[in-house]
Amino acid sequence: MRKIIIAGNWKMNKGLSETIEFVNTVVSAMKDIKLNRTQAIIAPAYPFLHEALRKSVGSGLQIAAQDVSLNNDGAYTGEVSASMLASLGIKYGIIGHSERRQYHGETDATVKARMLKLFEQKITPIVCIGETLAQRDANLTTDIIISQLNGCLSEIKLQAGTEIIIAYEPVWAIGTGRTATPQQAQEVHALIRKWLVDNYAPEVAENMAILYGGSVKPDNLKELLACQDIDGGLIGGASLKAEDFLAMVKTGAEN
Ligand code: PGA
Repeated sequence: MRKIIIAGNWKMNKGLSETIEFVNTVVSAMKDIKLNRTQAIIAPAYPFLHEALRKSVGSGLQIAAQDVSLNNDGAYTGEVSASMLASLGIKYGIIGHSERRQYHGETDATVKARMLKLFEQKITPIVCIGETLAQRDANLTTDIIISQLNGCLSEIKLQAGTEIIIAYEPVWAIGTGRTATPQQAQEVHALIRKWLVDNYAPEVAENMAILYGGSVKPDNLKELLACQDIDGGLIGGASLKAEDFLAMVKTGAEN
């Protein structure tokens, strides 16, 4: 059985005290949730990762980074390396988010290079892919998804047991309140799973968690999780409120 992953991508939100308050609330409430195969993750901003980790040690909540440097160390002002994240105890790293692609020149090639840096440090990458509205309207969704998978993952050796998470996030659904319908999401998730079978092996495809992201909230998570190939959510706005995040963790645990 694959894991169900409820991952909150906080983006550039919340300072120190808000981070601590959130983590304390969620860690304490999660003691009463039987998680089953659900993994809860939040990705605060870099400066607060350490405190979030400290406050969540031994709980069911894991902490992720929102990005990672392409470099190991040295003169790269503003960058944070995979080994630095590993030294904190970070277990997950989001890479290739559409906002990084749009505003910071991220490409499939740099996503792949960052993935290798994370692998070296045994940090599980959460690799984001997804089409824009113009691409969907032009019937290019399949082509875009396949080309992103080829670009990000080709030559990456994946065996059953290598941990990697793929997040399908249609760009038109991010922060817009316009969620993909479960059918639209499932169609792309099935395509991703088939690509994994064709390019790796059925066991690799079967074990990989594929998350949906884009205006996921407590109200629509259940119907998304009911789809065969949707194994959780990468959640922005709705992950910022502890109450909503917990509601989504519960939905995952009950699934
Ligand atoms: P959203 O963001 O849930 O606010 O749409 C999702 C994401 O960008 O990961």
